[in-house]
Amino acid sequence: MPAVVSDFASRLIRWHKRHGRHDLPWQNTRDPYRVWLSEIMLQQTQVATVIPYYLRFLERFPLLADLAAAPVEDVMALWSGLGYYARARNLHAAARGVIEQHAGKFPRDPEMIAQLPGIGRSTANSIATFCFGAHAPILDGNVKRVLCRTFGIGGVPGSGAVEKRLWSLAEELMPKRQGAIYNQAQMDLGAMLCTRSRPRCGDCPLTGPCVARATGRTAGLPEARPRRVIPERKATLLVLRDGKRVLLETRPPSGIWGGLLSLPELPEEADAQEWAARSFGCRVGEASAAPVVVHAFSHFRLHISPIVLDVTPGHAAMEPRWQWLDLDATAAAALPAPVRRILEQVQASGSKPLLSRKR
Ligand code: ADE
Repeated sequence: MPAVVSDFASRLIRWHKRHGRHDLPWQNTRDPYRVWLSEIMLQQTQVATVIPYYLRFLERFPLLADLAAAPVEDVMALWSGLGYYARARNLHAAARGVIEQHAGKFPRDPEMIAQLPGIGRSTANSIATFCFGAHAPILDGNVKRVLCRTFGIGGVPGSGAVEKRLWSLAEELMPKRQGAIYNQAQMDLGAMLCTRSRPRCGDCPLTGPCVARATGRTAGLPEARPRRVIPERKATLLVLRDGKRVLLETRPPSGIWGGLLSLPELPEEADAQEWAARSFGCRVGEASAAPVVVHAFSHFRLHISPIVLDVTPGHAAMEPRWQWLDLDATAAAALPAPVRRILEQVQASGSKPLLSRKR
């Protein structure tokens, strides 16, 4: 084994003692529910954003059994604004799986953990090391960056061959003892020093042996996936306003914003006033355009043009997916972040037209 491999873990563990993070809300516990929740929230979201969501979530669902017993809508409401909502649906399904298939006891074996919805190999291993002292390496985005740079590994992480090589390196580097500290140290080093841009090599415990540093390839490793052009899409969302109430739709369970509440989307080419009158049996008054909101999804960017319509609801029964909600109650509702932003703008504007009269 080359020297760099044999002392990789000890360099990281020593560094972590003095410089790593020790007081994050999900540390200093071996409760798998709390650790699992943090790992899922942290998958696509930064620590600082996660903390308030994490604390609120645990206040509402202190135990895995509380989460499993809750309606999925309540889970989505607490997740709203964090994005990547499949994480919340899977979390809820997995909590039910633990109750039903494991008699409420969180599995200890990483392979069993990885069979729960929404938990991949790295997340399962990290839960198993933090909570049960397992000897199991992790390989999240931060760790991949640290390994690609330290060992000068080219190719795109995520491509089959590179992924395989990284997992086998991660297995080889895993120390026999102090696995939890070691795994946390890798995450911390990736998040704090070995960052994607402007890494702080001067403070890094791996600077000496780092191949990327020695060969001037820190900026080029890990290799970036070839850039796809992100498509731009447009949508018109209607804010049907009846005094202090707005009309909201529960989105279908899968797809964009699955299971969340959103504003009705105007079909292309349709006229907002006509369509609203026909679809909801409303009498429609003034229409005004609110500022465009741009939201980036992982695979496209959506330009949302909101149109505000003042309406008087008719008496016809509405489909159950539609509901009128008080604007004041939208703060606690399961809304995606851009929809929340639109409603905040509408609320702040009172009854004044927002940008321009449509007609
Ligand atoms: N990202 C993923 N898991 C993490 C953890 N346990 N601490 C900090 N950042 C993380």
